[in-house]
This record gives sequence, C-alpha cells and structure tokens, in this order.
Amino acid sequence: MEQISPTVHSLGAIDWDARLFDRLIPLPDGTSYNAYLIRGSEKTALIDTVDPDKTQLLLGNLKKLRVDKIDYIIPQHSEQDHSGSIPDLLMRYPAAQVVTNPRCKEMLIDLLDIDDDKFMTIQDNQELSLGDRTLRFIYLPWVHWPETMGTYLLEEKILFSCDFFGAHLATSHLFVEDTATVYEPAKRYYAEIMMPFRRQISKNLKKLDALDLEMIAPSHGPVHKKPEFILKAYKGWGADTVKNEVVVPYVSMHGSTAAMVSHFVEALIERGITVHQFELSTVDIGKLAIALVDAATVVIGSPTVLSGAHPKAAYAAFLANALKPKTRFVSIIGSYSWGGKMVEQLTGLLPNLNAEIIDPVLTKGAPKTDDFARLDKLADTILAKHENIGIVR
Ligand code: FEO
Repeated sequence: MEQISPTVHSLGAIDWDARLFDRLIPLPDGTSYNAYLIRGSEKTALIDTVDPDKTQLLLGNLKKLRVDKIDYIIPQHSEQDHSGSIPDLLMRYPAAQVVTNPRCKEMLIDLLDIDDDKFMTIQDNQELSLGDRTLRFIYLPWVHWPETMGTYLLEEKILFSCDFFGAHLATSHLFVEDTATVYEPAKRYYAEIMMPFRRQISKNLKKLDALDLEMIAPSHGPVHKKPEFILKAYKGWGADTVKNEVVVPYVSMHGSTAAMVSHFVEALIERGITVHQFELSTVDIGKLAIALVDAATVVIGSPTVLSGAHPKAAYAAFLANALKPKTRFVSIIGSYSWGGKMVEQLTGLLPNLNAEIIDPVLTKGAPKTDDFARLDKLADTILAKHENIGIVR
C-alpha cells in the first residue's frame, strides 16, 4: 500500500503464492491485483478491486488509510480478479456508485449479481470530476474482453490500464525498477491473453498515442514510470513482422520423434535460425506462448498413437490455434508404425493460423539416414521461406 502520486494510492494485493490462473496459465512469478485509490478535493474513487480471495486485504488497506467514504468504484473490466470484491465493497461503502461502461455493467450484473441501481454508466472519452482531479474513460475493447476500458487521470497524466500492459509478477517494488525483470512476465502476459486480439490491440495503442503519459498503472504487476518501455514492446509484439525463429513443440513415446527433433533442431541452428524447442509433457505453456509471439515458423513433433496425433501434440496445436500467433509457416515431423491420421488431425486443429503448410516429414519406425536427409531438406526449405520474406540477415 503505497502512494504513486500526490493523490493516488496503490492498495491492491500481491499474490506471491499464486501458481495457476484460470486453471490454465502457469504463474511462475505469482501475480498482483492492483487497485488504485484517487482522492480528489471533492470525491474519492477506487479504480478496480482485487480477486475475491484477497478482498479482506483490500478492505484492511482501506481501513489503514482511514477511507470512510468512496464515491465511485470504477471497474475497468468485469473479470473477477479485478471486480470480485465489489459486492463486499458495496456493503462497506453503501453510498458508492459503480461507474463503468454499459457493456461492463451488463457483465457485472451477470457475473456478480450487482443491483442495477448501483451503477452510473459512462461513454468513451467521458470525463468525471473528483474536484481538483479529473478522470477520462477510454474504451479499450478486447484487451482482452470486449468491455475493457482504461482511465486517464488528466492532471497527473496517469493511465490506469487494467490488464493492458500488465504482468503476472509479484514484486515488492511498486514501480518497474529493472525492465529486464519485467520484460518476460509482460511478454508472457501479452502472449497468453492479448495475442489473440492483436489487431484490436494495435488499434487501442493508436488510441493512446494522443495521450501525454507520465505513468501507466496496470492492474497486474508494477507501475511503469517510463511508459515508453512497455508501449514499444507492445508495438513490436503486435506488429506484422516475424523473426527468423522456429518453435518446435514435440512429444515422443519411444524416442523416434525425439531423435528426429534433435537432428532437425541442429540442422536449423546450423542454418543460423533461432530455435525454441519444447518437450510437451513437461512444458510451461507460458514459455511456449512467449516463443509463438515472434516466430516465423512452427514445426510440431508427434508420434502416432491410437491411429492419430499424440494428445499432448494436439493440445499444443489447439493452444496455438487459440492464441492466433502471426506464424507464417507450419510443418509437422514425427513417426508412425503402421499408419494413421496424425498430420490431418494436427493441421485440422490450426484453422486460425494464416500459415502456409510445408510438407511434413514422417518416418516409419525409427528414423534412418534417408529420414535425416529429409529433415535437412525441411530445414533448407524453411530457411528459403524465411529468406523470401526478408527476415534472414
Ligand atoms: Fe486480470 Fe482479464 O483479468
């Protein structure tokens, strides 16, 4: 609970022990749920709340700050990690109005059963006076839900951005101290929930160009005192350009696919291509998602099991399809003993990728000399494709 500016306190919760979000996303560095209290000369506003598990912590922080009255509770996004404490807050501060956009209001009524008469709805770019401080609401749809918005504190040039520019990172530092520490959690966060909405993210970034920003205060992770770091990173991740990189998620049962992957990865490295290899029975899917952000090519390695793709490989394909990376080329390598539909199944799981499928390399049983030569040829083909699109230096 610290002050980030003359009128703004950060009083959310650090969740050091969180290790999984949405029962899906690994949180190797924990996370935080940030809420911001703004005390204007006439009105007090609370931007976002915390996960329901941490409500008591938020209420305790408000008590420590002797906050007797909150005029406006401003949920910028209805997902429960930010909105989940609102029912308890309304019990503690019954006169507070819940200020949000109409779509978010509708979703909050659905998710948290908040009474209709508690709400005050606002429109894009509408301003709300707190006396000597002014809030401007900025719709930021699809970062990463349709109703998400940000809030700009005009007099202090602070953008409260909710999930946008956030990072799952538990840290005792209120501000970003070292960009190298924050870069990977921020990229992981982008990859896991923002990447599927890359086009909308770019539009929202353009919308922010008009703002004079001294600080970006997201609702996960530390506050950016030098916003250009995270703005530049988002612009790069969201751009159409890809890098001379290949992601190789694979699984192997008896070593044939593993031997193919090992040879193939070496062949790519010899050709100067950056490789990200992931064994799928032990993978941190966040790391895989990060690698998918920039890579030009994905090559999935799978054995044939039960006449089809290994379920771990199918999961990776399904996940990549959901994350919609800007991948340009896809191929498959793997083994079979008597036949099956592994290739058809995996390519069928990737309809969202606007990628060219390069001929797969399959081996019958353990890979032999000819098979390794075909893997070398696949590496040549990938290099040529990368050269064609101008990403090989
Ligand atoms: Fe951090 Fe979409 O909630």
